[in-house]
Amino acid sequence: MKKTPNQMLIIFGASGDLTSRKLIPAIYNLFKGGHLSKNFCVLGVSRSNMTDEEFRTKAILESPFLQKENSKEDPQTMQAFAEQFHYQDLGNDYDHSYDLLANRIASLNEQHGTSGNYIFYLSTPPSLYEVIAKNLSEAGLSKEKDGFRRLIVEKPFGYDLESAKTLNDALHHYFDEKQVYRIDHYLGKETVQNLLVTRFSNSIFEPLWNRRYIHHVEITNAETVGVEKRGGYYDKSGALRDMFQSHLLQIVSLLVMEPPISSDAEEIRDEKVKALKSLRIMKSDEEIVKNTLRGQYVKTEIDGKTVKGYREEEGVNPESTTETYAAIKFFVDNWRWKGVPFYVRTGKAMPTKVTEAVIHFKTPHHEVFMSQDAYRKDNKLIIRIQPDEGILIKFGVKVPGLGFHVEQANMEFYYSDLESAQVMDAYERLLLDAMQGDTTLYARADEVEAAWRFVDPILKCWENNPAVNTYGYSVGTWGPRNSDELIEDSFGWRNPGDLLTDETGFCILC
Ligand code: BG6
Repeated sequence: MKKTPNQMLIIFGASGDLTSRKLIPAIYNLFKGGHLSKNFCVLGVSRSNMTDEEFRTKAILESPFLQKENSKEDPQTMQAFAEQFHYQDLGNDYDHSYDLLANRIASLNEQHGTSGNYIFYLSTPPSLYEVIAKNLSEAGLSKEKDGFRRLIVEKPFGYDLESAKTLNDALHHYFDEKQVYRIDHYLGKETVQNLLVTRFSNSIFEPLWNRRYIHHVEITNAETVGVEKRGGYYDKSGALRDMFQSHLLQIVSLLVMEPPISSDAEEIRDEKVKALKSLRIMKSDEEIVKNTLRGQYVKTEIDGKTVKGYREEEGVNPESTTETYAAIKFFVDNWRWKGVPFYVRTGKAMPTKVTEAVIHFKTPHHEVFMSQDAYRKDNKLIIRIQPDEGILIKFGVKVPGLGFHVEQANMEFYYSDLESAQVMDAYERLLLDAMQGDTTLYARADEVEAAWRFVDPILKCWENNPAVNTYGYSVGTWGPRNSDELIEDSFGWRNPGDLLTDETGFCILC
């Protein structure tokens, strides 16, 4: 096990949802797994007025997200964990008391022996990122003179290309790029990382990984839940910004990239940037309207009960045209991928929760065993990112008996079958990497900008062109009915689980 240096984690936004739901359980698991140095502490910072004791009680001892641990753990272990947590109120606008903060950090550094190594985790509204970075720098907390100083920045990183560039420029004013860790929790998922291993440590896939053998690539991200309590945020964001620009383009970059020279962070990130830069940017509105689709879930009757539509969700404008479903067809302009269509879709309120990438191989160029629906028997490599993490290969076998009838068989691998199947949660993994100074699974400035550069024209067209509709779809279906038209040249979407189509309505929201 690699040794984690002594350090202090300073969390801005410590009384927020992400801290209690994700960060503290992740730190707890790292603590239990023996991954943290003994000289470690957390300083929670936010706008609420709390003592250390109150923070410990709320965030740890009575946290619903640590409840399981609380009931089975020896109370002394929980108490020992809680004692590593401290709290500092930073005023209403996170804009003052940085001298106070610097003094508090210095005294905790003494108390816990954290060797002057600090990670600042920005889990606040994005509008505060710049001001916090500036204040940290002015308080002398960004310079690495007597220890490392790292800044973890939560998503969303920017709202469009321009705001992402402005934020990068602002952060670079106060921190060096190598100190900035832009988080995308999909990169912390074991199965997303495994895309690299599947491709580059097996000689049976990579020779086929190109336009000669691949017919098309399909990526689906579906969630059964709607926007839950995040209507206010989501209505200004939409699926394209919330899922596609970040998580799904990260998956695309790992599928598309060329082999890196080594597993060094910069080598991998260089290749990812090249991959993102090779996505063909859609230049005209006509092209965008033809190759993209936006949808929104509508009020639906299910088993005699009415399920809320997006417009009825808390915090959402009742006339909103924000998309909760987005599907995009695009091409990658480089030697390897020329002419291979990529279809990527994401949606909320869908029939099942699943994220998977499907590589559809071409059927053999001369079909000896011709059958009427040959395309249904194409070889597929299905990389299941979540749930049931694993890999599935579909291939043709002879049906026993006379003649040469071909049926599809499956070869399956599930992560849960591995003996060492102790899969780290994404935040656990990413936090540990930042603590150990490994940036491989964090997005670099040019990477984030390259992703926005591809998405920006689509956003602008969707927002400004009156010809772009938001199509309604019923809750629990695979999106608007016309989503099939986007992919009909490649024989339709692979809908894992039951095939549900939206028969109940085809309303247009605009
Ligand atoms: C977040 C999005 O980044 O990812 C959410 O803001 C989405 O809208 C979530 O629900 C999905 O994450 P996961 O890990 O559950 O697939």
